Amino acid sequence: MVNKVLFFDDDINWAKTLDGYFKGSKIDFCQVTTIADIRAKITQDSTYDIVIIDISNPKRSILEVIRYIKLNFPSVKMILTVSDIKILNKLGLTGGALLKLGVEDVVVKPYSKEILIKSINGIKQFETWKTLKNVSEEEDDQEETVREPDDYFTGVKLENYVSGSINVFDLYLRTGRNNYIRIFHRGKKFNRLKIEKYQSNEKINYLYFKTADRGTYINFTNKLLEKMVDKDLNVSKKAGLVKEVSEIYIDEIFTKGIDAQIVTEGESVCRNVFNLIQEDEILFELLEGYLNLEKSFRSHLFGTMFFSSVICKNVTWASENTVEKTCLGAMLHDIGILKLPEIFKTLSVKAMTAGQLVQYKNHPAAGVEMLAKFPSISEPVKQIVYQHHEMADGSGFPNGLPGIRIFPLARIVALANCFSNYIVEKKMAPKQAIHEFVMERNTLIKFDQALIKSLIIGFIKKGKA
Ligand SMILES: [Fe+2]
Ligand SMILES: [Fe+2]
Repeated sequence: MVNKVLFFDDDINWAKTLDGYFKGSKIDFCQVTTIADIRAKITQDSTYDIVIIDISNPKRSILEVIRYIKLNFPSVKMILTVSDIKILNKLGLTGGALLKLGVEDVVVKPYSKEILIKSINGIKQFETWKTLKNVSEEEDDQEETVREPDDYFTGVKLENYVSGSINVFDLYLRTGRNNYIRIFHRGKKFNRLKIEKYQSNEKINYLYFKTADRGTYINFTNKLLEKMVDKDLNVSKKAGLVKEVSEIYIDEIFTKGIDAQIVTEGESVCRNVFNLIQEDEILFELLEGYLNLEKSFRSHLFGTMFFSSVICKNVTWASENTVEKTCLGAMLHDIGILKLPEIFKTLSVKAMTAGQLVQYKNHPAAGVEMLAKFPSISEPVKQIVYQHHEMADGSGFPNGLPGIRIFPLARIVALANCFSNYIVEKKMAPKQAIHEFVMERNTLIKFDQALIKSLIIGFIKKGKA
């Protein structure tokens, strides 16, 4: 039983996330942000069960402290955390070297609370998806029929599934209602030929994994996307992956609710979406044809985040920090709808009865109430959720604030939210819809002119403006 953990991480934001992970838990948790403090703390108090050391920012002195702990406190377990597994290679910390140093596990950032707890409890993460290729080169030839409810599975479009060479979780094909075949096992080689074998009988569009593995999928795909940023990969592949992971992320929130881990994952999703949008050519192609928003709630949320990112990209005052907050606010903006009956996810405002409208207008406040329990969600994100229906002409709700009093980031999300709805309503592709949207009187009086301009700029291909 682990009671006492000493943590070192010099990334202040991540330190805050860790704080969120351990607040209210039974683990006695002490955090330090300098290498010198690790040595000082453990020397003063030798009752720590585990020391977790982040080496994302590699320095010689970190290795020295690890050696010091191994030599002087051999019963203390050591776990390393790192933002990129390559850092370990650079430091020469391969499997054998880690063992020599007394390191029991390595966890790759951004890790979830569940992953960290598993590692603390002795379940190794180092041999999970990041390093699976080192532990298994076997062909995966076992298949089995699984009869379990459809709710237990999450589908990913086959064309968007990026596996790496090794499966990070079991993968299934759906053969009928509540019927699946497990075709790939976690830790074994992924082999597209195997899918083709099934495709000769039937068209396969989706691969499935257990909904319980959704967090791993999000984490894995986010890391993958971070690595893809600078690579010259197929545009639609990148875009498809970003859309898929965002939507699965949204599903995760809207079925399981929100927790500290999901907030951290959300920040990565937002960063990846924004990184993608930063590449002008990709943005242009996305707008051109890819982003077909079908009428579903999760598409609306993704669309709002997507257009918020487009606006942010072209707003001069939006720093990286602002962008992340705005996108997270956009993704969570309608979370209060969860407190309303299911029908509100699909009901358009125009079709609501007077009674329903009163209920509906309560969703911004309900959303903020839900988020109040999460100190890791910053105040600007909560303000966005609360004010995303306020309009510059004072006609919005819940408070009918005039433009000047609306929180600037909420103004961005309000515009993106409205445009995302407009596309669905008009059944138009974004590039087609933008012209009509900006000509509408309502658009002109309800939104900040500078923001409308920023949205339009997003639709103009660089060099051809
Ligand atoms: Fe809303
Ligand atoms: Fe909305």
